[in-house]
Parts: sequence; structure tokens; C-alpha cells
Amino acid sequence: MENYKRKKRIVCWSIAAAVFALLFAYSFAEPFLVQVDRESFYGKDLPASFSGVKIGFLADTHFGPYTSREQLRSIVELMNAESPDIVILGGDYVKRNPADVPVCFEELARIKAPLGKYAIMGNHDYWVPSDDIITQMKKAGFTPLVNKNVQVWHLGQRIFIAGLDDYDEGMPNLDEALSGITMGDFAILVLHSPFYLKDKGNEYAQEFKLVDFALAAHTHGGQATFFGLWSPGEPDQFLPMYASRWRERGGVISLVSNGTGTSVLPLRFFALPEINIIELEKPAAADAVQ
Ligand SMILES: [Fe+2]
Repeated sequence: MENYKRKKRIVCWSIAAAVFALLFAYSFAEPFLVQVDRESFYGKDLPASFSGVKIGFLADTHFGPYTSREQLRSIVELMNAESPDIVILGGDYVKRNPADVPVCFEELARIKAPLGKYAIMGNHDYWVPSDDIITQMKKAGFTPLVNKNVQVWHLGQRIFIAGLDDYDEGMPNLDEALSGITMGDFAILVLHSPFYLKDKGNEYAQEFKLVDFALAAHTHGGQATFFGLWSPGEPDQFLPMYASRWRERGGVISLVSNGTGTSVLPLRFFALPEINIIELEKPAAADAVQ
């Protein structure tokens, strides 16, 4: 009897170890499973000519030892295959090595977007010479949006895209970022860390009302999560609040991307890498919003 129990225990532990080993091995494969997340945003302030316009959002490439040039190229090809009209980069371009910056942007330069390409700064972009990042952004055809906005024109109508400097390492200035935007304009705020929205929701309640929606990244969807329910990352990074998908954060409807890269360790678990395609839609009824 005792012998039988011992055998049963060994079998159970062996199965548990095998399952754990499989899940562990899978976590190193997940970073390669880049998804295309297709979303729609219905905005009552959206100019009619922008209905159907597609915005591509790519963030957290973390190019370097964990993301090869071939991988980055395949992500760029994935983006181009979606034929976005506008592409926005959400920061954290390279892992840490300044020599990776020009190589990363050589690949990102291949992105095509007829209505414009824009880019913001992430925290990692201040851990290499940030001037290099800005220079290479421009060289690759991206307009840097650091506490500033641009008007994007299409068939005689315009929307605004505002970019905020990074919350952790930069000097975000929301007033500068939203300068010239008034109620009734259609404005997208792009920022790297979604925690800014949560932390500043009260202080900037009025300013946030100018924003139709925000795009953010930085959290990698938790990167290594407990089956998508919880992440051991930042103390208040309880999923799904700061994982991907639309959610109101600090009073702003926002989409947080899982991004494509990894940091700390080259693994992901139940936080699939993704690029995001947001199709802008004019709602049929004036009160229909996302
Ligand atoms: Fe980041």
C-alpha cells in the first residue's frame, strides 16, 4: 500500500513538473507570436472624411539582444500589410545599447503611412542619448511629438494628434501637448505610460476632456502574467486595468497596447505581443460613442 502511494506521488509530481516545463518553454516562444489587434473607435467629434481612416500603433519594440533585426522587420511587414493611413510609435525603441538606435530606425523607416508617421518618447529612450532617438526618428520619416501636437489633414478636414513626453524619465507638459486644441476638435493623446492618466486624472480633469481617446503602452500587458489576470510587475499593475484593451483611465478612454518587445527577460506569458490597428468611425447617431 505504502509502495502504491509513493508511486502515485511520483507520477503526480512528474506530471506537474512536465506541465511546468512546457509552460516555461512556451513563455520563451510567446514573444514571437505577434498579433494584429484590430479595433474601432467611434467618435462624435470625428470629421466625416476621417471615417474609415486606420491608425497603426506600434510600441515597445525594445530592439536589441532579445529582438533581432529580422524579427523587427517582420513586425514592420505586419504593420504595412494592414495598410494603415497613419502610424504612431509609442516609445521604448531599443533595449539599452545606443548602437542599436540607427539600426532600429532603419527598419522602422520601412513603415508606410500616407497621412503621416509620428513618434513619442518612452522611458528607455532616455537611457540612450535621447537626441539620437529624435534624430533617427526624423531620419526615418517620423515626426517626434514631445509635448506638442500636429494637425493631420485629410480631404479638407483635420484631426489633432498630441504626444506627451515620458512620465518616468521625461518632462511631460500636458498644456503644451494640447496647445491650440479646443472642445469639438477630434484629438488623440499619445503617451508612453498609462499611469500618467491614472495619477493626473483629478489634476487635469478639464484638459483630459479635450482628448477623444488616448493611446499608451509601457506595461507590455504585464509581460509575464498569472494567466492574464495579474502581473507581478509594478505594484499597482493589476490586470486588466493597465493591460491592453479600451478602458477609462483617469477619465480618458484609452487603449494600452501590449507592445511587441520584452524587457528584463526575453519571455512573455499570457500577454501576447501585438500591433494595434484602430479604425476611426463616425457614429451614425451623434450620441453613439465607444
Ligand atoms: Fe516603457
